[in-house]
Amino acid sequence: MKILAIETSCDDTGIAILSAKGGPASGGDEFEVLANIVSSQTALGKKYGGVFPAMAKREHQKNLVPTFVEALEKAKLLKTNMSQNFTAVKKTDIAEILSREPELEKNLISFLKKYVKPNIDLISVTNGPGLEPCLWVGVNFAKAISQFWNIPVVPVNHIESHILVNLLENKNITFPSVALVVSGGHTQIILMKKIGKYEILGETRDDAAGECFDKCAKILGLGYPGGPIISKLAAQAVIPSLTGNPVLPRPMMFTKDYDFSFSGLKTAVLYAWQKNKQRSGKFFASRQKTYQTQIAFAAEVQQAVIDVLIKKTMKAARDYKAKTIILGGGVSANSELRKQFARHCERGTPWVRSNLTLIYPKPNLSTDNAVMTAITGFYHRKSATSDVAQLRADGNLRIE
Ligand code: KG4
Ligand code: ZN
Repeated sequence: MKILAIETSCDDTGIAILSAKGGPASGGDEFEVLANIVSSQTALGKKYGGVFPAMAKREHQKNLVPTFVEALEKAKLLKTNMSQNFTAVKKTDIAEILSREPELEKNLISFLKKYVKPNIDLISVTNGPGLEPCLWVGVNFAKAISQFWNIPVVPVNHIESHILVNLLENKNITFPSVALVVSGGHTQIILMKKIGKYEILGETRDDAAGECFDKCAKILGLGYPGGPIISKLAAQAVIPSLTGNPVLPRPMMFTKDYDFSFSGLKTAVLYAWQKNKQRSGKFFASRQKTYQTQIAFAAEVQQAVIDVLIKKTMKAARDYKAKTIILGGGVSANSELRKQFARHCERGTPWVRSNLTLIYPKPNLSTDNAVMTAITGFYHRKSATSDVAQLRADGNLRIE
């Protein structure tokens, strides 16, 4: 079957087209990515220093149709409509569904006049969690094309998608698994008994790990988004994982639960950075000195986050006798995090078995994309509906 997927949970507009074939009951499903287009709002984020829901919603409205066209073209599914038989009745349906997204309505109507229905069997759309105004744009877009072309829609959970994207390259996952989903909006440890059966073991009580990277990068004057910048800088530290100067806290590292807290780390960075500045006079002595200090801070922030993430995930793996550790979400693109997780899984620790299987997606599938939405939609295809009026976006959707 061919799945069209739509992902607008934060500031990336993602459209993917996936060809999927179910394997035997034991697994082995086959996927082929026909198109994976992500229109990123990073330039805007850089300009304004973060994501603002109303602005991101406007960008999704603008980007959805061009991204859709690019994806259809890439998948060789874009065909011009020669007969121009666009029906007025259906136009009214679209206007009603997209009444809050006038720009998207205009773009979609001109698209539908120009092109014929592509060979798509299922539409999969992220309906939460995420920024609710952004989620609604994607959900309404899915509703409109579903109505117009008569294709059923399956709503999917963004966190589950960050986990299931791993099935693209790992056909069989051994359960139970412990998944660590670390992104700009979430940090959760999830026990996965099988596909579709999850239990949240722990999560952040305040900032998400990616949010912590982004805020620390801002304090250090490094720009946005912080995670990739911090990772790049940290790689230049003499011993990336052992700088120790400044010394930052590892919040909640030794608590008995599986929860996290990253807001204190951000505050510690702020104070340490200010102290450092005062010590070196109002301005740092030289540009070179500033750069070296930024490197030291980046390496220590990154290591503090990694230490806590690994400690809590390995603890969950031990307590729940996991066979596999699954990583997902934007922060899982961090190469030092992957490397250190791999070391722990291979060698084990005195209290965790060794040879735990570790899986994680390619970096471009760790951050937000719609391939993950398509794969998740495939596993929930039985929940697809043509009664789109009931579809809702939910910013606080839980995976359980
Ligand atoms: O999953 P994602 O694309 O969007 C959300 O669902 O939030 O994650 C974005 C987050 C941002 O906070 C970004 O700074 C972080 O992932 N990130 C990274 C890296 N690449 C992206 N953090 C650390 N190292 C990276 N290489
Ligand atoms: Zn995400």
